[in-house]
Amino acid sequence: MSDPVLAVERLNISFHTRRGVLRAVRDLSFHVERGETLAIVGESGCGKSITALSLLGLVPEPGRVEGDAVRLEGRNLLALPEAKLRRLRGARIAMIFQEPMTALNPVLTVGEQIMEAILEHEKVSRAAARDRALALLERVRIPDAKRRFSDYPHRLSGGMRQRVVIAMALALSPAVLVADEPTTALDVTIQAQILELIDELKRENGTAVVLITHDLGVVAEHSDRVLVMYAGRKVEARATADLFARPLHPYTRGLIAARPQPGGGRARLAEIPGTVPSLFAMPAGCAFAPRCAVAEPACGVAVPPLMPAEDGAVACIRAGEIHVPEPAREALRA
Ligand SMILES: Nc1ncnc2c1ncn2[C@@H]1O[C@H](COP(=O)(O)OP(=O)(O)OP(=O)(O)O)[C@@H](O)[C@H]1O
Ligand SMILES: [Mg+2]
Repeated sequence: MSDPVLAVERLNISFHTRRGVLRAVRDLSFHVERGETLAIVGESGCGKSITALSLLGLVPEPGRVEGDAVRLEGRNLLALPEAKLRRLRGARIAMIFQEPMTALNPVLTVGEQIMEAILEHEKVSRAAARDRALALLERVRIPDAKRRFSDYPHRLSGGMRQRVVIAMALALSPAVLVADEPTTALDVTIQAQILELIDELKRENGTAVVLITHDLGVVAEHSDRVLVMYAGRKVEARATADLFARPLHPYTRGLIAARPQPGGGRARLAEIPGTVPSLFAMPAGCAFAPRCAVAEPACGVAVPPLMPAEDGAVACIRAGEIHVPEPAREALRA
């Protein structure tokens, strides 16, 4: 197997605040292969977005990023000076966000902004950049791309804007595309089209995709592997099909069981009781133990290590046991 395009090794992200040190991400390791989509899931605040930002060196102040490596095509981004990082950003790793307007400049036409992205990184003529920008707008299937080229972003619908952002992200054929809730702000049919577009680009260009979403239906359909985070830590990472067929961590089981069933609202609600602990007051052992139906005294003593499991990993001392809590078992049968 070739080296992964992206390899994160023991990443730690903390915020030094007046209330103390908030450790948002702890000892996080994962990798993404060429042409693969890794989904990152977990409840709000578990560290998905801040992890995504760290991959581009964009963690805001007062955030502190430490760790062994964030290796992009072999280069450790954590050891690179900002100027070098800036050159890789956009060119080798690109990001799309939930709200396309955050990535678009309101005073440039959509064509001009794609041109600018190209001209910033490559020594090509304006005419060549213009041709490429137009081809990209066609590539992401903006209808009537020639005319749209000269439109300002506010003239476009949300779905069309997100297509422009994707075109911009792809302008330099990055090795990795990070998408943080890329379709949450869009309506359902447009959502599906955008996700299909990302899938297609992955297939055709071999782009590695990191997809962050709350929607487990999207995860099931559009990812190859899943990384489950809880309170800043990786608790399970598996192939997508295996994870849905046999979730091992009680938290993953809870997430899947709480997933709304197609057509049935939140059928057989097996919601996880309680809430994520405050990152300022983490329990001593497993952070999920206070909410876990199968926790035992040992779970409160030490953070469970990640153990190899079915081609992936899980951090739960009870994961190997057959016992599945009743609500999750019911949901699994559904
Ligand atoms: N600029 C910041 N200053 C202080 N703390 C921050 C900052 N940005 C993020 N955090 C903290 O880091 C933790 C992880 O946040 P993050 O935005 O990564 O969560 P998330 O998993 O993306 O959540 P959501 O699903 O709501 O998007 C949270 O506890 C958050 O409060
Ligand atoms: Mg987020």
